[in-house]
Amino acid sequence: MEIVSTVSAARSFLKPLKRAGKRVGFVPTMGALHEGHLSLARTLRQHSDVRVCSIFVNPSQFNDPKDYEAYVISLERDAGLLRREGVDLLFAPSVEEIYPAGYQTTVTVSEVSKPFEGALRPGHFTGVASVVSILFNIVQPDVAIFGEKDFQQLSLIERMVHDLKFDIEIIRGALVRDADGLALSSRNARLSQDGRTHALAISRGLFAAQAAFKQGLRDSARLEELVVESIKSVPNPVIDYVSMVDEGSLAPVRSVSGRCRLLVVARVEGVRLLDNAAFDPARS
Ligand code: PAJ
Repeated sequence: MEIVSTVSAARSFLKPLKRAGKRVGFVPTMGALHEGHLSLARTLRQHSDVRVCSIFVNPSQFNDPKDYEAYVISLERDAGLLRREGVDLLFAPSVEEIYPAGYQTTVTVSEVSKPFEGALRPGHFTGVASVVSILFNIVQPDVAIFGEKDFQQLSLIERMVHDLKFDIEIIRGALVRDADGLALSSRNARLSQDGRTHALAISRGLFAAQAAFKQGLRDSARLEELVVESIKSVPNPVIDYVSMVDEGSLAPVRSVSGRCRLLVVARVEGVRLLDNAAFDPARS
C-alpha cells in the first residue's frame, strides 16, 4: 500500500491506473479506524480494481473546537489496518494541503442540511459536502462507499452527487455494531465503562422498536417512545432527537407505510452518539 500526503502524489499514483481502465473505489474517513470503516474498505473490494482510502480530520465540519481537538488518530495503526484490507492507496493530507491560504469555496446541500444534525451543528454539513467534493476531485473515483451509520450524511452525499453530476456510484455500507449492540464509532473510546453500559440503552431501544414493528406497530410516535423510554432508563440521559423519517426525503412520518429510518442522537457523558435502524413494511 502506497501512503501519500499531497494532491500531486495521489494524482500521479492514480493517473496511469485510470488510463489503463481500472475501476477506482474510494472510502473517505477521518481515521481512528474501527470495524465499521474496515467493513466499507472490504465491501470496496467487490466493486473496484484499485482501492483508495483517505484519512483527513476535516476542521471545517467540526462546529465544536473541543470535539476537533479530542479527535485522535494514529496514522501508523490505521495504515496497518487498511493494508490488511487490501487498500492500494492511502491519502493522508495535512490541513494546509486541502485548505491552503486563500481557500474560500464551499458546497452547501440546502434542504438535506436543514434538520437534525444540520440544525444542531451549524456549518457541519457544508464542511462535509465541501471536503468530500475536494476529495472526489482529487481521487476521481468510479465508486465510493459511505456508511449508513451517518444516515443524514449519506443522504446528503447522494443528493450532492446527483445534483452536481459527479460521475460516481455511491454505495451504502451497512451499519456495523459491537457484539453488545452499540453502533461502532470513533467517539465510543471517550466513554467510561459505565458510560458504555449506559450507551447500550440506545440500541436496546431501537431493537425494542423493531420488535414492536415486527408485531405490527406502525405508529411513529409509539415506536419513537420505545427508544425514548429505553434511553430515559439510564442516569442523566440527554436526547437530542428520536425521529422516524422517510428514507428518501428524511421528512418525519406519522406512521410507517414505506421505507423509513428511526434516527437517534443521544449524549452519554457528553459524548454525542448517533444511531439508527431501518423500518420497512415490505420486509417485515
Ligand atoms: P468518519 O466518521 O471517519 O466515517 C467514515 C465513514 O465510515 C463514513 O461513511 C461513516 O458513515 C462510516 N462509518 C462510521 N462508523 C460506522 C459504522 N459503525 N458502521 C458502518 N459505517 C460506519 O464520516 C466521516 O468520517 C466524515 O464526515 C467524512 C465523510 C470522511 C468527511 O470528512
